Amino acid sequence: MDLQALLGKMTLEQKLAQMSQFNAVFLFRDAGGEITGPAKALALTEDELNATGSVLNFIGAKRMKEIQDRHMQDDPNKIPLLFMQDVIHGYRTIYPVPLGMGATWEPALMEECCKMAAKEAAVAGVQVTFAPMVDLVRDCRWGRVMESTGEDPYLNCLFSKAQVRGFQGDMTGKYDIAACVKHFAAYGAAEGGRDYNTVDMSERSLRQDYLPAYKAAVDEGVEMLMTSFNLINGVPSSGNKWLVDTVLRKEWGFDKVVISDYDAFREMKKHGYCENDYECAYAALEAGTDIEMMSNCYVKNVKQLIDEGKISMAQVDKAVMRILELKDKMGLFENPYGAASEEEEIKFNLCPEHRALAKKAVLKSAVLLKNDGVLPLSDNIAKVAVVGPFADKGMIGAWSCGGKEEEAVSVADGIGALIGKTKVKVVLGCEGTAKEKPDAKEIAKAVRLVKNSDYVVLCLGEKREYSGEGNSRADVTLSEAQKTLARSVVEANPNAVAVLFNGRPLALSDIIDDLPAVMTVWQPGTEGGSAVADLLFGKENFEGRLPMSFPREVGQAPLYYNRMRTGRPPRDPNDNSRGYESRYLDCLNTPLFPFGYGLSYTTFEITPPMLDKTEMNRGEEIKVSVKVKNTGSVAGSTVVQMYLCDRFASLVRPMQELKGFEKVWLLPGEEKDVTFIITEETLKFYSANGKFEAESGEFNLWVSDSAEKGESVTFKLN
Ligand code: GLC
Repeated sequence: MDLQALLGKMTLEQKLAQMSQFNAVFLFRDAGGEITGPAKALALTEDELNATGSVLNFIGAKRMKEIQDRHMQDDPNKIPLLFMQDVIHGYRTIYPVPLGMGATWEPALMEECCKMAAKEAAVAGVQVTFAPMVDLVRDCRWGRVMESTGEDPYLNCLFSKAQVRGFQGDMTGKYDIAACVKHFAAYGAAEGGRDYNTVDMSERSLRQDYLPAYKAAVDEGVEMLMTSFNLINGVPSSGNKWLVDTVLRKEWGFDKVVISDYDAFREMKKHGYCENDYECAYAALEAGTDIEMMSNCYVKNVKQLIDEGKISMAQVDKAVMRILELKDKMGLFENPYGAASEEEEIKFNLCPEHRALAKKAVLKSAVLLKNDGVLPLSDNIAKVAVVGPFADKGMIGAWSCGGKEEEAVSVADGIGALIGKTKVKVVLGCEGTAKEKPDAKEIAKAVRLVKNSDYVVLCLGEKREYSGEGNSRADVTLSEAQKTLARSVVEANPNAVAVLFNGRPLALSDIIDDLPAVMTVWQPGTEGGSAVADLLFGKENFEGRLPMSFPREVGQAPLYYNRMRTGRPPRDPNDNSRGYESRYLDCLNTPLFPFGYGLSYTTFEITPPMLDKTEMNRGEEIKVSVKVKNTGSVAGSTVVQMYLCDRFASLVRPMQELKGFEKVWLLPGEEKDVTFIITEETLKFYSANGKFEAESGEFNLWVSDSAEKGESVTFKLN
């Protein structure tokens, strides 16, 4: 397609319509052909609607074809619509939320799951997914931590790249869809963990911790990027010229489509950055945003901006050309339907291999937090009581696109399928709402049931609507109702295990001692219950390791392992009784469960790290070796993690930083050598010179199976 010729015959109105994205429903007129509802509210004209460039929020191939047909009929330039959707962790077959996928420490598995999601999405007519979300998260109060892969920049970069590869392939495959990395930038650093709240940080912190995962996606070839709702240091991302034009476009060379978040242009007025839509359009176009999602600043104001010489037609043409290039790259001019196919929807959605992959992802994302020996359960038993609000539902989490709860395997279903339905009895015991008080009658019912059961599986946690966009929480404990239910049930039958369903780290210090065993399966998705059953009865072993610290109290938030040292660190991290130290009077500084932590049905030993040299000149490398042994009685995997601390630097460096890891699977008694290579690149950071460079000096090194654990050794960079 000769895109220059096409661009040359477009009117300004048609160009601005290409730079606009609306909900698919906007394109439908009422019976009399009149524009209705929200489209009317935006005063969109027939021409503006007919020439729209892309839509979001539609479901299914049939619907997509209807919309595309109508559009191609009405659009004077016959430019196909681009169809976009939030395919975050599955389209119809839902795998664990990304925070759970982060717990697998297997980017390759994430890539495989994204590929599966892309296939189901592509045949449903989706051409672009608004994923990966790679916002670094450190505050468990934020509702969208479930959408990220956690608190570590190194791990997030690996998962960022894996998701881009999984969704996009090489962009020539029939089921490859374009990925859109978001939310640029630092949306996860909202003050107070409150969604959409202000973000204010040094350029050092931004470049060192928050920007790398977006850059990882850009370097991996992501086709689109979404700017975030939040301010950064006083300027909304949607109109942030330094962020989008200087950093993204000029420094990183990203010359592809940038889209705003939903109505984020007009929110610059609420931020107090722009006085009117005219200024919003100016700020956004100057920054370099090509598509305006769900608002009409461009279509209504750019003509005036050009007439007044504030914006050039060349700027508009550049934005439109990026959009046309993406459509051309996806072959839409030749085939406006893309891979949309009703019959393939039926063939692929929830097919056995997709369900199997979703189950594998749950098995590898589940984290065993505590086990006093009650696990694994024996299947040679008569009766299991499955108790709690998540006993027979609640597998499908936030941002689950076309996922349906009724298509998911609940915990009760999963256990029944494994050991026989007749052996499973369910009692909810409470609703599962946040402030719910105990109901004595319901608890008595649960106690009666568990007294005559061999085991109790408590299914507790937070409802899916307590996570996701706009759903931050100031209290991340289990409700009184759930805690009282749990204590009553365990007292009646101590052969009890708690399975947690949570979109964020929860504060468990007030209940953990009352529970014999605890696992989290996050928001596990379609095959949640079948995987939980296999883990409970030891058919599978736990592999998950925490991608985000679990606090003792929510008051510790933001809490993360790679935090800075202070001038008055506690002399003993397990003793907060001393004065004049950086401490809380009522809580230790350390997490209840640290980053990288997770138990198994077996045990492992990791030898102290051996270095082939303790001094390294520039251009050289150091080889770090350990032996890891399975010292238990069943096969299992562990994640051997290498952490560094740059002891003295031109800008203070964190207590620990993950710089390498290897997941190893070992048979009982089996031993394996694990090696890490440290190069100058490993030691680089954003220094006081404003450059990524390695500074000479001493480094502490740990090799362990979680952060904040073990003895370090030291080496020196000359
Ligand atoms: C939402 C979210 C963004 C999503 C977009 C489209 O407000 O912030 O992540 O992709 O709108 O649904």
